[in-house]
Amino acid sequence: MITYLASAPIKNNSVCLLRIDLNIESPKDLFRLESIIPTMEFLRKKKKRIVILSHRGRPQSLQGILNFEYRVSDEDKKKYTLKPFANVLSNRMREKVQFLDAVNIEDIKDEIQKSGANIFLLENLRFWKEEEIDSVEFGKRLASIGDFYVNDAFAVSHRANASVSAITRFLPSYGGLLLKKELENLDMVMHNSKHPLAILIGGAKVIDKVGMVKFFWKKADAFLFGGGSANTCLAARGIPVGSSLVDEKAFDDIRPYLASIKIHLPVDMEVLEGKILDIGAKTVSEYAKVIARAKTIIWNGPMGLFEKKKFSHGTEGIWKAILKNKKAMVIVGGGETLASLKLLGAKRKVPKNIFLSTGGGAMLAYLSGEKLPGIEVLKK
Ligand code: 3PG
Repeated sequence: MITYLASAPIKNNSVCLLRIDLNIESPKDLFRLESIIPTMEFLRKKKKRIVILSHRGRPQSLQGILNFEYRVSDEDKKKYTLKPFANVLSNRMREKVQFLDAVNIEDIKDEIQKSGANIFLLENLRFWKEEEIDSVEFGKRLASIGDFYVNDAFAVSHRANASVSAITRFLPSYGGLLLKKELENLDMVMHNSKHPLAILIGGAKVIDKVGMVKFFWKKADAFLFGGGSANTCLAARGIPVGSSLVDEKAFDDIRPYLASIKIHLPVDMEVLEGKILDIGAKTVSEYAKVIARAKTIIWNGPMGLFEKKKFSHGTEGIWKAILKNKKAMVIVGGGETLASLKLLGAKRKVPKNIFLSTGGGAMLAYLSGEKLPGIEVLKK
């Protein structure tokens, strides 16, 4: 059982090591950042000091040996630093968030001790080579910064990284408010979904989504394919797709499912220079009918190259169909799928029946029935 923050026995004057996921390209993209604010507010109301831990991107550490000091190229440092988030978080929390970029943990601890601030943000953990190999010693050093640990980074819980996994060996460890919400919603669609259950699969890599197809094969009533995932299914069936994006590695895995009536593939597409770039209007209307009947909907991956207006109608049409169905429980995840929300206009509010998951790979892994390392270590 996971103990969540709201019921955790936390001592006075203690320091929380809060793992969140700031793996965000632009600090202006506020979705992931906004979703951890309630946890931070909860901790600050309880007068806890917070040290925020996160990674960003996939920087290449320059270290040859493990010596617990980070070293990255100037280029990677500039590209992947978490520094800009300190300001954004300060403004949002209305109190100073001190950025800590000392290269070793001892200096970081000194800075925290000397500082009058109550919230700190550590530099990108992937600048340390030890983070991604789940180094136990690095986990121990990180743990020595605080008194207890909270994982509120569902989106990175499929990675056995030191700040997600090893660290929990050394501190009382709890799930955050966001992690709780994510798991409750995903568990609900996995184990108690109402029928009809429709699963929309788009985006490029169908290989990452086959696990979800397998897990839901008996439970779901319809799988609606779009984007590069649909191209792969069509090509695996021997249907010519020109020079469209196709994930050949997934052919053998997906082929056994394709003959079933549960599988829906596009009946028309938008094509440019031999490349399928969106589902067509007929497909949108077919898919919209399935969506209208569904009582549970899961969606991961856009239906086309929505960043280009001409190929955005498929993804936009699916959003509109989903928004019309106010009775279904809807889970939407994946960075691109959430980015496509902008097609509905900045002011569009997402209704309560739609849960936007902060997880991309983590959501797919969880919905495939996999055990996520970051979640398993919280179970006591
Ligand atoms: C994500 O954005 O999905 C997570 O932060 C994991 O990132 P990663 O794929 O670089 O490990």
